[in-house]
Amino acid sequence: AVTRTFSIIKPDATRRNLTGAVTKMLEEAGLRVVASKRIHMSREQAEGFYAVHKERPFFGELVEFMISGPVVVQVLEGEDAVKRNRDVMGATNPKDAAEGTIRKAFAESIEANSVHGSDSEENAAIEIAFFFKPEEIVG
Ligand code: CMP
Repeated sequence: AVTRTFSIIKPDATRRNLTGAVTKMLEEAGLRVVASKRIHMSREQAEGFYAVHKERPFFGELVEFMISGPVVVQVLEGEDAVKRNRDVMGATNPKDAAEGTIRKAFAESIEANSVHGSDSEENAAIEIAFFFKPEEIVG
């Protein structure tokens, strides 16, 4: 089925002017950008978005990194969008990411790993609603 997922092009990628290169790989994987905006997250937004990781030892660093520069938040649409996006992103740690994936091509480290993607359809809906109003999504 055609579904939606949520993506973030992270500060390490925007800093290196890779917004287009990352988006091209998403599009070539069969995903369509149906909403997109460049924002500089506030600390409150980053803490709220990553609230599920609050108890993790890397939470503080993760928040600092995500507010260290602009990000591009996107809604992606396509056949089985969550899985399709996870496949093209590659493993969280670029050391484990397969050839041809975004993280293999661009990620600097497990933290500065260039992209975020929702891990389930349920979380995709929550994450999309965190950043976008329904009328900002144009399919
Ligand atoms: P993301 O998909 O955005 O969701 C949580 C993020 O935490 C993850 O990508 C990584 O960038 C980051 N992360 C995961 N594990 C670690 C770690 N051990 N150290 C630092 N950051 C991490």
